Amino acid sequence: MSLINIDQKKMGPNHMQRIQKHQLQWIHQLKQEPKNLERWAKIELLSQFSECKLDQCKCEGWLRKPNATTTTTTASSINNASSNNNAGRSSAFINSSNANSITRPTPPDEPCSRTDCNHAFEDHVVNYIQATDVELNRLLDIMVEAEILNTNSGIEDHEGTRVVYQYLSKFLRNSITTMTPPTMDIKLGSPPFERPTIHQALTNFALHNFSHKNEEEWRFMHELAKSFLTAVNIWMLDIPKQSSTDREYNVIYSRWLCFCYVPVFIESLTLKDPTQIFGRMYLKQIFPSVTNNWQSTAEKRCQTERQKALLNEFLQQLKIEINSNDSLIWATEFDPPIPSFFNTCLIEETKLKSLIKEIKEERERQVNKGGDLFSDPVSLIPEMSSARDESARIEEKHGKIEFHIIGNSMNRRIDKHDYLWLNAIQNVISHQLPRMPKEYITRLVFDPKHRTLALIKNNRPIGGICFRMFPTQGFTEIVFLAITSNEQVKGYGTHLMNHLKDYHIKHNIYHFLTYADEYAIGYFRKQAFTPEITLREEQYLGYIKDYEGATLMECKLTPNIVHTQLTSVIHIQKEIVKRLIQDKQSQMRRQYSGLTCFKQGHDRQIPIDQIEGIIECYKGNSDSFRQVKEENPETVDSIYSQLSNILNLVKSHSAAWPFLKPVSPAEAPDYQEYIKHPMDLKTMSERLKSRYYVNKRLFIIDMKRIFNNCRSYNNPETEYYRNANTLERYFFTKLREIAGVRIQTCSTRT
Ligand code: ACO
Repeated sequence: MSLINIDQKKMGPNHMQRIQKHQLQWIHQLKQEPKNLERWAKIELLSQFSECKLDQCKCEGWLRKPNATTTTTTASSINNASSNNNAGRSSAFINSSNANSITRPTPPDEPCSRTDCNHAFEDHVVNYIQATDVELNRLLDIMVEAEILNTNSGIEDHEGTRVVYQYLSKFLRNSITTMTPPTMDIKLGSPPFERPTIHQALTNFALHNFSHKNEEEWRFMHELAKSFLTAVNIWMLDIPKQSSTDREYNVIYSRWLCFCYVPVFIESLTLKDPTQIFGRMYLKQIFPSVTNNWQSTAEKRCQTERQKALLNEFLQQLKIEINSNDSLIWATEFDPPIPSFFNTCLIEETKLKSLIKEIKEERERQVNKGGDLFSDPVSLIPEMSSARDESARIEEKHGKIEFHIIGNSMNRRIDKHDYLWLNAIQNVISHQLPRMPKEYITRLVFDPKHRTLALIKNNRPIGGICFRMFPTQGFTEIVFLAITSNEQVKGYGTHLMNHLKDYHIKHNIYHFLTYADEYAIGYFRKQAFTPEITLREEQYLGYIKDYEGATLMECKLTPNIVHTQLTSVIHIQKEIVKRLIQDKQSQMRRQYSGLTCFKQGHDRQIPIDQIEGIIECYKGNSDSFRQVKEENPETVDSIYSQLSNILNLVKSHSAAWPFLKPVSPAEAPDYQEYIKHPMDLKTMSERLKSRYYVNKRLFIIDMKRIFNNCRSYNNPETEYYRNANTLERYFFTKLREIAGVRIQTCSTRT
């Protein structure tokens, strides 16, 4: 039995959290042990992972002379706790050095007892000596985690699970050696493993299959989809059978272990939800069992027969979508419909279309207003507010510039003018990158594996991007990029890059890598390149050419963006929002004649929906309006009769006598110094008579003021103080009984 037991029979799918809690506590205790050691002892412990820092030495970790006295060790704690069956097994890396069982610091010059090393202890641990305490503790945590996995792999029955534990343990030990945070970097691929993910597909499902329903029913379906996703996320995969040849399931299982299961216990690994990294393949594997389990939970949410019917519909349709080859919810480019009630406060489709047309035409008129676009270069200078690539886009639209992908080939005839263009671009690049040897540029531009996106103006290349695609590695290397000097900073560089992006999206490559020259980093940043590389090194190392002094930068492409149109689309979107706001504002500024009912004096209240302008304010938000209406159902008359009833009862209570009339200066000469807003029951009666209390809130505020004033002026031992408390409680009771208003009485002091 392993320490972190994946015994499906015992755990069951929904017991994951209970088991985790107990195991996490245990791991937490194990991690605490080495952290309590002195600094030198921590360094000794970590030294077994520390390569010898001497250049010529290949030793991967410090090995001490096998003569130290032993004390309790982390490794032995893990081994003992793991299982009695495990008694004779030893922990590979801790026993090999006995590093944490020593009782005194190792002398800095003590030689490593590996025969191929023999170098001094300090040559191994120089990095740790410089590390902060926090860093040492972080590394010790990883060490314990690596040891847990290592021990676990030794006692795990299932071979696939054992291999994953061993792999992860080794991976964690490497991260101690390199002192870098463990970023999962595995041969099984990097997440998400499938697209669309289960999460995306379920969102598509709710939108695609149920958007026609009314809002209430759609929201119910949406809640079901969310609950189903949770069920998938907490589902424990079955251990594959030892003899299983189902490669697909074995791969899924190993990935799930690495990203969704082990990181629950091994906190230095990044934990992912299965629904965020797996897709249809995974869901198909677990669908029947998850659904069986989830259905009973989902049924409990159903309060009506209709909801039960909706749940059945949900399950039936989901089953069809998972198994059908034509299902749209699993299409990467699928754009599901949005329920119509989401659009109520936005804009109707026809209005939207005419608005877009209007904006485009207006823009066109603006661009052309300078007269002949080509003879008047001033008209090409973009306005301050326009996008950098706008003038280049317009030039392309009018056929003034062209973009062509060209390149050399060994097995097909190349047009003569392609050769001439390649030659001209090679010259532009050589000119613009004078530190790059010309022969090298020529070799790559004419290399058949490289392509060039050429920018042609007046039949002459004025710039280009030389690139090499690595479809199997999922990226393209941008090798050279240049625009001839007198055409720079006109937006050509941006438009050229946008064309290259669109070209790659068509060819299903979504990553660019480039070594940016130090002067070009600013330009690349503006084209959405960043020095943070998300591609795994094994994907590009050995493929991309390395340039000294240059910065490796990456650009991730989003498949559903047309980059050559992006700025114009954003311009239109901004303009639409601006116009909608203007529209709304002009409505808001409309003035109505005002209310006359007060002047006429017959009735001091009118129904809220008869007030001009109110309904317009709530247009598209009928729920809020309904709420406002419900909050104001009472007339002043009905409020008056309730309040008068309460006030009479309060006045006739035996504790009311101190509050019946205003406090006079004769009774309390300094009263006004302390009480800024006096109140009494007589004043309240007058206010009630004059219909001052148009709502209950005003009445309650005045009444509470009487009691609070009394308590702040008088001592708690006085009769006044006690009467204030008694009367306040009585008031709250009557308020609840007669006016249905409930107030918490905790403010009453005794
Ligand atoms: N540093 C910082 N910002 C720059 C640079 C630069 N070197 N060049 C352009 N930009 C900015 C522009 O000011 C503009 O910013 P804005 O939109 O805020 O006004 C934005 O980048 C885009 O400018 P464009 O006009 O579209 O770019 P341009 O047509 O000038 O082309 C290019 C840019 C290709 C870098 C050009 O300047 C050039 O040929 N430079 C010399 C050669 C070079 O350095 N090539 C790159 C070497 S690295 C490599 O090849 C992998």
